[in-house]
Amino acid sequence: MPQPTPLPKLGILGSGTGTNMVAIADAQDRGELPAEICIVISDVEGAPILQKATDRGIPSVYVPPGPYSAKLDETAEQKILELLNEHGAQWIALAGFMRILKGAFLRAFPDRIVNIHPSLLPAFPGLRAWRQAMDYGAQMTGCTVHLVDRGIDTGTILAQAAAPILPEDTEESLLERIHQQEWALYPKTIAQWIQGEYRIQGRRALRRSQD
Ligand code: GRF
Repeated sequence: MPQPTPLPKLGILGSGTGTNMVAIADAQDRGELPAEICIVISDVEGAPILQKATDRGIPSVYVPPGPYSAKLDETAEQKILELLNEHGAQWIALAGFMRILKGAFLRAFPDRIVNIHPSLLPAFPGLRAWRQAMDYGAQMTGCTVHLVDRGIDTGTILAQAAAPILPEDTEESLLERIHQQEWALYPKTIAQWIQGEYRIQGRRALRRSQD
């Protein structure tokens, strides 16, 4: 009897609440993501993303990040790579992962790591991007799914969704509006990316169906 083709495996790295991880897992459950989340890894002990993964039966592991605040030390990077390999991860999604990934990590998954950022890049890279947009007086912001490269939020843009900044917005209400966009955009873009729908041309990612 022919064996069913195994689904591509997706590893997720996150440092925080894990709402995007949940949105990805929900999309998988609805049959909208042709992939299996094989492991969730966090650099923050007790981060809610770990418990949320455990609750769904997804293996979840805390890896101590080492002494630096903005990057992983070599031991942590090696450990995370080992775990991803052990669990067969072929694609990686960052979901609120707060450390920069270095060369060895990026080389292990060339063009196979995506991130979601809460602004319309290239505007407002870095931390608390929704707050930056609000303080700047922008009237429109949103979220961006992009490939991860060596820079901070500089990789090729795969998809974006806009969210207005309203006069009555607080930081919380704006973040909530951006989150709503993220939960729809991220799983959909990951599915398209894993299915090979993107063709990279210089800085541009073109959907094959739009050719
Ligand atoms: C999201 O807003 C994402 O854009 C940013 O980190 C946040 C993660 O939230 N990179 P959660 O952990 O998915 O709830």
